[in-house]
Amino acid sequence: MKYSVSTLAFALGASAVSIPRDCTFTLSASGGQSGTVGQLSDGQNRVGGNNPTGTYTISNGQITDSQGRGCILTPPTTQFQCDVGATPTGGFAIGTQGQVTYNGSTTFYACPATDSMYNIYTTSVQGQAKCVEIELSASGCYASQTSSQQSKTTQQSCPAPSTVTVTSFVTQASQSSISSKASSSAPASTASSTTCPANLSGSYQYPHLIVPVSSTSPNTAAGTSYNGNIDSTTSSIFNFDIPSSYTGTCSLVFLFPEQSQLETSSYTFSGNGVLDFKQLSTVATQSTTYANQGTVKSDLGDFTVKPGTSTVVATFACPAGQAVSYEISSVSGTSLEYFQDYNPSPIGLYITSC
Ligand SMILES: *[C@@H]1O[C@H](CO)[C@@H](O)[C@H](O)[C@H]1NC(C)=O
Ligand SMILES: *[C@@H]1O[C@H](CO)[C@@H](O)[C@H](O)[C@H]1NC(C)=O
Repeated sequence: MKYSVSTLAFALGASAVSIPRDCTFTLSASGGQSGTVGQLSDGQNRVGGNNPTGTYTISNGQITDSQGRGCILTPPTTQFQCDVGATPTGGFAIGTQGQVTYNGSTTFYACPATDSMYNIYTTSVQGQAKCVEIELSASGCYASQTSSQQSKTTQQSCPAPSTVTVTSFVTQASQSSISSKASSSAPASTASSTTCPANLSGSYQYPHLIVPVSSTSPNTAAGTSYNGNIDSTTSSIFNFDIPSSYTGTCSLVFLFPEQSQLETSSYTFSGNGVLDFKQLSTVATQSTTYANQGTVKSDLGDFTVKPGTSTVVATFACPAGQAVSYEISSVSGTSLEYFQDYNPSPIGLYITSC
């Protein structure tokens, strides 16, 4: 999926535009759990199960459901539910492509409520090992907001997106909720003083699109994936959308914790761990295949990854405001498949800035 960062810049800077008050939207989740967001009769919003689809409106950063219940983040867990008589929690917004943010973050969490249904939270629930990271997409009311205080909602009546994608703009996933965990379990860093941290304790970007391409099915577009998948015939391409605020130095880092440090992610790994990292000339899309992936802009070299290490692959001037694609391929038979995640210990390809 393509989008332009200049659109984002415009949207974030836009002031009030007339907003149809009657726009409604449904929500769909993507990421660790996907599906339409339904509602229990008491107003809890859930992913999975066969609950009636929730329909919502948004005004001044506040979401209300079709029964007029205010949608709140119930303390202390931050569960997203709509309660009779509640004043809706402010701070929600819908980005130009339908991505839902809370306090500027696109990251939400789905934690199991039953075997088949997940509650939605803005912070991962302490002690619930099975929470997964999700993003929420609104089917309409595409909007942007300057801040929850100013509450200038702009709106266009865009058609619903036909597919749910992992594409999103926002950038700084709730740092506060992960930094303490990241610090306690971050693998040993190989960074030198000239690189940005090989951990996520500062500003970082996670990939907004991961696309596997395979030489055994060169014309097949596998579409977006939540896994990095690398073996002798399959490579994975990772897209990053570098915010225009990233004007300093960036490092491309590969974080590879021990399996024992992971709760919601896992991996399979075999071979000698040698991986080749490349920057591609063309930004990948969900239609990218092995055959059409285009050329290599620069080969960043072979690196040996092993559990419990973090690798700084490259350090460069941040490509502020640009989308960039990197590819990881297997060298001499290394095979690695992992669920790109950061809870509680980040795994996968990230860009850190400093
Ligand atoms: C969201 O922002 C509001 C206002 O700054 C703050 O009170 C609230 O704690 C924030 N919520 C989270 C989960 O960070
Ligand atoms: C992250 O990396 C930086 C630079 O390498 C280091 O100073 C810092 O202590 C690391 N933080 C954690 C939480 O490991």
